[in-house]
Amino acid sequence: MEPSESPRKNFCEFYHRLLSPRVAALVVALRDDGRPNVMPAAWHTPVSVNPPVLAVCISPLRYTHSLILKNREFTVNIPDLSVKAAVVEAGSKSGRESDKSSLFNFAPPAKIKTPLIDGAIGAIECELSQAIDVGDHTVFFGDVVACRAKGFGEVWKGKSPLLHLGSSFYTAMRED
Ligand SMILES: Cc1cc2nc3c(=O)[nH]c(=O)nc-3n(C[C@H](O)[C@H](O)[C@H](O)COP(=O)(O)O)c2cc1C
Repeated sequence: MEPSESPRKNFCEFYHRLLSPRVAALVVALRDDGRPNVMPAAWHTPVSVNPPVLAVCISPLRYTHSLILKNREFTVNIPDLSVKAAVVEAGSKSGRESDKSSLFNFAPPAKIKTPLIDGAIGAIECELSQAIDVGDHTVFFGDVVACRAKGFGEVWKGKSPLLHLGSSFYTAMRED
């Protein structure tokens, strides 16, 4: 369909869904009281291999936005399907209004202060290098300073990451 065939207000809402499914990652940032705040984020991408840099797009409306600007670090964690309910809950309320730290268990990071999600398929530790406002989101560029994973081949085969289709829709990987 040509963009001109659909009213702008419609294609603004669905153009990004054509790029789904996307891994529903969990961004952890430290609150002022030292507890971790967890926000699901599906708009993320690697942008450089060497040096390793990861970009995450976060709306200024999110509490996480202010926490990352303040602490200049965050972790990006890859949950599997078993924590879907907690992911949905973390994405439905803001850490400004409630402490979301009891939704997940946490593990110590290797290089920064922000913890990792315990039991995640993988976890990436980032130090903020740049924040660029683009439209209604800010692109946070994180220098990857540490990364752990359970072993891509086996894990991806037996345990799917939670995949977000947009809105309240999710799916999982399946083997052919
Ligand atoms: C699966 C999923 C993916 C999301 N992806 C993003 C995203 O990439 N960027 C964003 O700004 N918000 C995204 N959100 C919305 C935030 O997670 C949600 O507004 C959350 O409550 C913000 O929490 P906070 O205010 O504690 O930071 C997503 C929500 C869900 C459920």
